[in-house]
Amino acid sequence: MNGFFVAGTDTDAGKTIVTAALVRQMRMQGIDAVPMKPVQTGGGYTRDGSPISPDFDVYCSASSFLGNGDEIQDMIPLSLSAPCSPHLASRMEGRACDTGLVLAALKRLCVRHDLVIAEGAGGINVPLSETLTSLDLIKEMGLPIILVIRNVLGCINHALNTIQVLRLHKVPILGAVMTETSSPQVCDTFILEDNPRIISLTGDIPILGNLPFIEKAHPGTEPFWEALDVYMSGIADALFKKAAKTAMDRPGQSTHNT
Ligand SMILES: Nc1ncnc2c1ncn2[C@@H]1O[C@H](COP(=O)(O)OP(=O)(O)OP(=O)(O)O)[C@@H](O)[C@H]1O
Ligand SMILES: [Mg+2]
Repeated sequence: MNGFFVAGTDTDAGKTIVTAALVRQMRMQGIDAVPMKPVQTGGGYTRDGSPISPDFDVYCSASSFLGNGDEIQDMIPLSLSAPCSPHLASRMEGRACDTGLVLAALKRLCVRHDLVIAEGAGGINVPLSETLTSLDLIKEMGLPIILVIRNVLGCINHALNTIQVLRLHKVPILGAVMTETSSPQVCDTFILEDNPRIISLTGDIPILGNLPFIEKAHPGTEPFWEALDVYMSGIADALFKKAAKTAMDRPGQSTHNT
């Protein structure tokens, strides 16, 4: 499978913004990248059966890509209405989180596109049912992780716990992206500057980039994405280097593979 799984330390970590900005950056560099939201909550379906996905709307605001009805069904294979944990939304709606459905959709997207960038729901231990977690789905999808860490007081523990669990389950991690989802307080600057350093050191993980809080433009508008482009191009370059190294380690693979 060609792609990445954008996992977060928590809900509201900035996964959608990172996924959208990364798809945009890859497409600007001539790579046919598409987003995927395997399990959406707070969505549902329109009367004609099209999935509703607030996260997908954000991806679309960052890049315009062609997608017919079937493609969108593959990018959002399961959309649940209730804005809560997937296990609860799934139980309330009587609609099971079917991993077979997600894997088949991923396979089709991978055949048609260079790269699939999938965004998780909440943190990695979020239950999709009483017997299945987001981590189980990540393992089945087989994509390496880009970990999104919201840079706030308390994120060191969240980040290291997430890294430990992923390593325990032998899920490859490409690196982390630090995000600021609210305006940082000046008095916290010394914490926000140290968080990436200590997480990288003690978690033995590369920090692919730090995305600042964009104050001057509203999320989802073109000026917002343009402001993030500056930071995202460095992150995309770091991912290309990693992909190239993986391809050299595994002869016969395209440099876009991971
Ligand atoms: N760099 C940024 N500058 C300004 N606002 C940001 C930035 N990154 C994220 N945000 C805002 O923070 C909020 C949370 O971000 P986002 O929706 O990407 O989180 P998430 O991890 O995808 O959440 P969920 O678990 O609900 O999918 C959103 O309102 C988003 O617009
Ligand atoms: Mg999201």
